[in-house]
Formats: sequence, structure tokens, C-alpha cells
Amino acid sequence: MNPWPREPLRIAPSILAADYAKLGSEVDDAVAAGADFLHMDVMDGHFVPNISYGPAVIKALRGRTTVPFDVHLMIEPAEPYLAAFAEAGADGITIHAEATRHLDRALEVIAGLGVRPGVAINPATPAAVLEPVLHRVALILVMTVNPGFGGQSFLPNAAQKIADVRALVGERPILIEADGGIAPGTAGAAHAAGADVLVAGSSVFGKADRAAAVAALRAAAGRPL
Ligand code: DX5
Ligand code: ZN
Repeated sequence: MNPWPREPLRIAPSILAADYAKLGSEVDDAVAAGADFLHMDVMDGHFVPNISYGPAVIKALRGRTTVPFDVHLMIEPAEPYLAAFAEAGADGITIHAEATRHLDRALEVIAGLGVRPGVAINPATPAAVLEPVLHRVALILVMTVNPGFGGQSFLPNAAQKIADVRALVGERPILIEADGGIAPGTAGAAHAAGADVLVAGSSVFGKADRAAAVAALRAAAGRPL
């Protein structure tokens, strides 16, 4: 029996895996499929070895839906761009603990912009780094692959990392998000370990029927491995 109140599970399709030639209709499709959040992966070619998109793309999509935009910044530094992402329409902004020397201050700035503050940790970063900022965050993103690319496999120790974060968070009102390699075969383990939000790129946008893909993730999360 899980001691933490964790319902409802949220599914957050990542548009990183969408067809960029028709991003607007891809967002519409994910919303129609029942996305709880839309996950937006911002990559700078510096903090991670890939480049994606920035605030202009997020702003262009904002008018299409009221579904919350969950913006994951894989950029270093992040601080100079926080206001731009808030103005573009982010509902939540998540920054990496590894990408700033001043995590506490950056999270305070995000909250001051009226946006839900989130912190992300890479696979090699221990959960303990989160302890000093628990009072500042509404969401913790656990990288369950190494960041930079979609379509990778859920790492073998990822469920343990989620469990470590869950133990740290306890009953605080902080969402725990698992990001990377989430598919029907791994969603159950991620949710059972303590994740409230499952990010899914290729396992949603890589499928022709996005509603069936989202439903498959929800069903899988209800059946822990
Ligand atoms: C990776 C990103 C993930 C990625 C997930 O750096 O943070 O959000 O898009 O993609 P899949 O679901 O394909 O692993
Ligand atoms: Zn992400």
C-alpha cells in the first residue's frame, strides 16, 4: 500500500517528439487525447548536446489551449531567460539544479514571476540536493534518462531515484515528475515509485493514435510492474 496521496496521475506529452511542421495541430491532438500538461523541452546545445526551441515557439502555441504548459529548461544559464518564458505563457518553469550556482535565488525569481517553480535533477545527481529547496518548489522533475534527446530507454536505477525523491518529499504538496523513457512498459514502475506526472514524448507523438497512447500510459500506470 502506498502511503502517499498521489492521485490523480498526470500525463504530460512532450512536444519534442511532435511533427514540427505542424506543431499547432500536434498540440491540438495531444489536448484532444487527454493531456493533463503539455511538456516543453528547451535545449541550448550547451547544457545538453541538442538544440530545440525557445520562447517564441511556446508563445505561438499558447493561444491554442488552456492546458498548462510545463516548461523544462535544459539551458545554462537559465536566469536571463526566465521572464521571457513566463511572458511566453509558461505555467510552470523547471530549471536544472546542475545548471545554476544560485538555485535558491533562481527558484525565488520564478515564483516571483507568478509561475510554478520546478527543479530538475540529472541521473547522476543525488536526491539530497533537493532538500534545501523543498520549500521553494511545486514540482520536482527526475530525469529518468540523460537529458538531451527523446526516444531513450528508462535507466535501470531511475525508479530508485524516484523513490528517493518521494521519500524526501513525503506529504508535501510537490508534484514528482518522471521524464524520459516513459512508455507502457515503464509507466507502472515510475508511478509506483512515486511519480505523479509522467512525461511522454515518443510514446505519445510517435504513435498515430494519440488518445490510445495516452490511455495506454494511464492504464499501465495503474498496473505497477
Ligand atoms: C529529454 C527530455 C524529455 C524527452 C522525453 O531531455 O527532457 O522530456 O522529450 O522523450 P521520450 O519520452 O521519448 O523519452
Ligand atoms: Zn523534459
